[in-house]
Amino acid sequence: MTRKAKIIYIILITTFFIAAGLSIYYYQKLQINNKEMEEAIASEVSLPTYHFALIGEEMNHEYWRLVGEGAKEMELEHDIFVEYEAPKRSNPDEQLKLVDIAIKSKVDGIIVQALNDHFTPMINKAVQEGIPVITVDTDSPESERNAYIGTDNYEAGRLAGEALVNDTNGQATVGIITGNLDNLHHQLRLQGFKDVVEKVEGIEIVATEESNITRVEAEETAYSVLMEHENITAFYGTSSYNGLGIVAAADSLKRQDDMYVITFDAIEENINLLENGDIDAIVEQQPFEMGKQSIQVLLDIIQGKEINDIYHTDTSIIRINDLSNMTERRMLAND
Ligand code: BGC
Repeated sequence: MTRKAKIIYIILITTFFIAAGLSIYYYQKLQINNKEMEEAIASEVSLPTYHFALIGEEMNHEYWRLVGEGAKEMELEHDIFVEYEAPKRSNPDEQLKLVDIAIKSKVDGIIVQALNDHFTPMINKAVQEGIPVITVDTDSPESERNAYIGTDNYEAGRLAGEALVNDTNGQATVGIITGNLDNLHHQLRLQGFKDVVEKVEGIEIVATEESNITRVEAEETAYSVLMEHENITAFYGTSSYNGLGIVAAADSLKRQDDMYVITFDAIEENINLLENGDIDAIVEQQPFEMGKQSIQVLLDIIQGKEINDIYHTDTSIIRINDLSNMTERRMLAND
């Protein structure tokens, strides 16, 4: 072989090895890229195993936010996604539409506050399509829902009645501001209250009006009740914002001083009014616990475990003296 041929031969061999090396290098790189891409795509589409819809009464209401937070907390322990939905302002028709959308989206479970009779067929439709339903806060006992989780609303009304009788020494002329008398939970809270106070001679209920759970309506209604009944000495509010409305109305008429006020829910604004003496007692419910337990029961249903028909969460009366205990309890719970 001539020297020139040898050089050409060496160049060809070297070029061949370089080309082969580069091909192997780029082939491996491509494989790695493909694998990374596949992993990225897989992680994007790997959705939680169960998708639950929680449908409350009002989106930005502190009480409902707590129900939502309780349910959401369960996402940390289970492979689930909780979608918290509610109308902006209390609106049963809109709430029903949200249930319908959840059914059509084929969620794995629905948690809903069953505000009135119109919820019964919608709940039944979900159950008949194989979607378990939990009623929360307000039950629909006639429906085919799997379970109810929330306050025993009749008992809570009785507790409020007993507190009022005790704190007023059985002497009071009472105005009642309730949420909406179409709603079962408000009916029960009223009935429980009446069953207690109507047995006490010194107590008379002179007015029962609705606030539709808005602050403004609670204040307007309390104002007209106060104008109509000069002799009112006590108020009972059956939903979260009623106490705020009652206090504002009584304040503006300068009748707050001797007015006894008991209302539902330990939301922050009510606690502030309890602290400064404008509200005398609060019926405390456990919205966070309601949300949390609802998810647990849905998971139990899916896993074929036996469940109860009703799970009552705690209800208690808090007065100003209980506030330090309550703060301690909350701090312990957050630890
Ligand atoms: C009731 C809820 C209601 C909320 C509104 C609570 O006391 O349990 O049903 O949505 O008040 O103010």
